[in-house]
Amino acid sequence: MSLHNSADGYGAMTKALHWLIVALFAFQFGAANIMLRMSEDGTVLGIGQSGYYNWHKSIGLVALIVAVARLRARRSGRLPDWAPTLSGRERAFIHRAEQVLYTAMFVMPVSGFLYVMAGGYGVNLFGVWELPNPIGSWPSLAIAAKWTHIASAYALVATLAGHLGIVLWHTLVLRDGLIRRMLPRRGGQAR
Ligand code: HEM
Ligand code: HEM
Repeated sequence: MSLHNSADGYGAMTKALHWLIVALFAFQFGAANIMLRMSEDGTVLGIGQSGYYNWHKSIGLVALIVAVARLRARRSGRLPDWAPTLSGRERAFIHRAEQVLYTAMFVMPVSGFLYVMAGGYGVNLFGVWELPNPIGSWPSLAIAAKWTHIASAYALVATLAGHLGIVLWHTLVLRDGLIRRMLPRRGGQAR
């Protein structure tokens, strides 16, 4: 399997980074739901609320670096041809959805970072390095960034539902093997 995207399929780099982002975003949504629901002095799985905030902020910044690598991987080589089993409407949706997904990969971490810095909460990266605050206290920016973070999370969930819906519909109902386009290649290309 080639490292880069080509006419006949996604490259190993795009595939690896796609699944890494899936894992990081799953963690982010899990940690956010726990930290926002638990009490300040409670613990979940032995970790306190500030621990979850720290992990959420740190992994979120790692996800930003992965998003940059992913965009570069998408731009190297050429995108594979559309899967022939996708209808015109599905292709139009996927095209828009990919724009939203890439935007979210950048807006989510950047808005989170701006919120905690402008709000004066800071980032203690993996509990070992207190990042310098390049913004300083800026309450109106903190509020705007917080609502951008929350609104983009909802937009991301709605778009992911469509993304996943198409993949599952094709893979489980139409049985055209669409999911294989994003899996390590074993014995040939999906139809
Ligand atoms: C890939 C990146 C990220 C994803 C997918 C993500 C996702 C989320 C989600 C789903 C929420 C809950 C929103 C709600 O209230 O419904 C949240 C909250 C939060 N996120 Fe992130 N996040 C990311 C990166 C970051 C980063 C990099 C930071 C800070 C450096 C951060 C700081 C926060 C904070 C402080 C909250 C709590 C906001 C509140 O008090 O309501 N996030 N995030
Ligand atoms: C379990 C969850 C997921 C599954 C099963 C899945 C599956 C797939 C599949 C099969 C493709 C190839 C579609 C094709 O070209 O025909 C794809 C592409 C893509 N997926 Fe996902 N995906 C998931 C989650 C995500 C998440 C969380 C994101 C981003 C936040 C994402 C972003 C993308 C993007 C942008 C593409 C286009 C190719 C690229 O530029 O990397 N996916 N996905």
